[in-house]
Amino acid sequence: MSVPKAAAGIGLGVLGALLLAPLDALWRAALCAVLLASAWLYRLLFCPLELLRSPDDVGYVARGGRSRAQAANEARRRRKVGELPPVYPNGWYRVLDSHVLRRGEVKNVSILGEQVVVFRGEDGKAHVLDAYCPHLGANLAVGGRVVGSCIECPFHGWQFRGNDGKCEKIPYAEKVPEFAKVRSWTSHEVNKQILVWFHCDGEAPEWTVPEQREITQGEWVYRGRTEHFINAHIQEIPENAADIAHLAHLHTPGILSGADLRYTNSKTWDFVRHDWKVQWEPESEPNKHCSQMLVKHALTVFGWHWPLLDVHVVARQVGPGVVFLLFNHSFLGRGVIMHCVTPVEPLLQCVSHTVFYQSNVPAVVPKFILKAECIQFERDVMIWNNKTYIAKPLLVKEDSAIQKHRRWFSQFYSDNSPRLRHQRDTLDF
Ligand code: FES
Ligand SMILES: [Fe+2]
Repeated sequence: MSVPKAAAGIGLGVLGALLLAPLDALWRAALCAVLLASAWLYRLLFCPLELLRSPDDVGYVARGGRSRAQAANEARRRRKVGELPPVYPNGWYRVLDSHVLRRGEVKNVSILGEQVVVFRGEDGKAHVLDAYCPHLGANLAVGGRVVGSCIECPFHGWQFRGNDGKCEKIPYAEKVPEFAKVRSWTSHEVNKQILVWFHCDGEAPEWTVPEQREITQGEWVYRGRTEHFINAHIQEIPENAADIAHLAHLHTPGILSGADLRYTNSKTWDFVRHDWKVQWEPESEPNKHCSQMLVKHALTVFGWHWPLLDVHVVARQVGPGVVFLLFNHSFLGRGVIMHCVTPVEPLLQCVSHTVFYQSNVPAVVPKFILKAECIQFERDVMIWNNKTYIAKPLLVKEDSAIQKHRRWFSQFYSDNSPRLRHQRDTLDF
């Protein structure tokens, strides 16, 4: 059992004992309050922050008695999709964070319009295969089990090797046919994340996602993650980095005013403001698949600038799906937020932020940074979830980085990159 779960168990036990103990009501209430406050403090100080939003949680306005899910479905149904670029760029995409897949564990993940099974063999190596068994189509991730470094199908027990998808055993057949195999995805586990390579023509990786040495060596430790589902074309999410003008408009109100754009400009909270200075540039050969956004953030409270809270961040994008947001601050310490975008379907993206931070900096610091990033990000989510894609936007000179970004991003498309043929007419949030 993990330490937080054990502590929660002990806490509940003590709480139960207090409720049953022969104390007078006032003492009992006071002791319960102290215990609950300690539990809250313990969570705040020691547990990772995990904010996992469901697809209709953020960025939709539910009016007239509708639920948020209904509002989300309506926004998806009514939207004009625009003249879209291809929907699945070539590149590396995060499938899972490593810590959610223990040895012998099996998960079903939807990526790039496909169902995949992700499992960790008994040797500790993670594998990604197509989820549907080629025999009669059972989903290997639903009831399948790990045997050595193979996955065993729950239907008739065929076993498929993790490294190449080849069928190794059919429990009731004398011979395993040569052609019996399931598609295996090129995968790579780095920075405590499991990534897969996608290329529309099945070509081998042209570049890799670099290792962040401090994560591998344990100097930076896991402090939390967020997950959002975004109803937009993938390109719109990284393009935000080159959209310099939106920072001063969307992200200037203090984080206390929240993420709902109907209220972020409320007068109540306008004594806190964020100021941003940003530059976006593509990198050159041999790293032309990378780009960098340099962010200088300053905080003002009642018009006073707080220089101690000035934060400089380098956001290095590696391909279409992975960004390293690197923090290096004189007293808040060093760390990284891995920001990953993975297409689930043509117009649905899973975006995760996973924070690793200096182990000797109290966990509340990276948790606060992650929460602040999450509030700012959810403002963008509200825009993305309701916007259309404009192939020829009406830009002014000051927006020129957007066109530059579109040219840079187009390197991830090739002639056969899949395009959206029909807008879906059924919705399933
Ligand atoms: S469907 Fe998988 S073994 Fe038969
Ligand atoms: Fe933004």
